[in-house]
Amino acid sequence: MAVVFGGRSSEHAISCVTAGGVMAAIDRDRYEVLPVGITRDGRWVRVPAERSLAIAGSTLPEVPGDAEELDLQRALDGVDVVLPLLHGPYGEDGTIQGLLELAGVRYVGAGVLASAAGMDKAFMKLIWQARGLPVGPYVIVTDREWRLERERKLDEIKQLGRPVFVKPARAGSSMGISRVTREEDLVPAIEAAREHDPKLIIEAGVEGVEVECGVLQGVADGPNEASLPAEIVMLGQHDFYDFETKYLDGTSRLEIPAGLPPEVVERLRETAVRAFDALDCEGLARVDFFVTPEHELVLNEINTMPGFTPTSAFPQMWAATGVDYPALVDRLIQTALN
Ligand code: DAL
Ligand code: MG
Repeated sequence: MAVVFGGRSSEHAISCVTAGGVMAAIDRDRYEVLPVGITRDGRWVRVPAERSLAIAGSTLPEVPGDAEELDLQRALDGVDVVLPLLHGPYGEDGTIQGLLELAGVRYVGAGVLASAAGMDKAFMKLIWQARGLPVGPYVIVTDREWRLERERKLDEIKQLGRPVFVKPARAGSSMGISRVTREEDLVPAIEAAREHDPKLIIEAGVEGVEVECGVLQGVADGPNEASLPAEIVMLGQHDFYDFETKYLDGTSRLEIPAGLPPEVVERLRETAVRAFDALDCEGLARVDFFVTPEHELVLNEINTMPGFTPTSAFPQMWAATGVDYPALVDRLIQTALN
């Protein structure tokens, strides 16, 4: 199998950490692994096995730019399955999935459309709304709208109230996201998000706790399954669950299972599977919610290749549900092969 990681998106480093965790858990008696890195500028290289892919303090790992370059066609030749452990654009967004479809190679996770819709928060929400799933109020701002209809869009955003979250429509790991409470901070937040993506989504803040849920494709023709949910507990001074909180400074922890009444947990797990099915996902995904004080569920987003380090929410939620890390990796490979 080829494990592909790194890539051109701003989540390059997180993809490396994910790959390090997954490769350490693959049963080498059963599978032969070719580690394939994609450099930040998009070259495919063979990554030496001894290369560390962990976060060391505040230093993030990276695919070495000077590693031996791989011929794409030759690299995929003779590979039975690809694990595209890429987060963000050019990986989690249907692009590599399209390449693998063209090449006739099986791969773990969502297909082209589900990956693309799962990466683009505008289309993700549109599909969920069309299926009657609960999403919060939001405004989309395209590049053209920002350049030509700025005042009208700012008026629309005002209707959302405060706070709002300004997000690149297609990014991950909270890159480029700001929480805005003051009017004068809105335009700078929009400009900051536009550094990541010319298309933005501005969402009304939802009062409540953040709760995540893992979904796995069913075994054989069995139904898709949801894990026990995890509640994000914020420990520090951060305004929201941002990049530092997620990966660097230990200012958040996961409570698994989430401290919610059983009826709410059941509703949340069902909704997570419906959100997965609405996008035609395959393999795996993590569905992120807000749960209001009245226990209303609001879908925040889906990640078709969720963070998969041994300490990430997705594997931890499955471990709590009875599928440990190596078993989870094996199940994903077997799902892709069958
Ligand atoms: N986008 C990051 C990796 C996540 O969803 O976990
Ligand atoms: Mg995401």
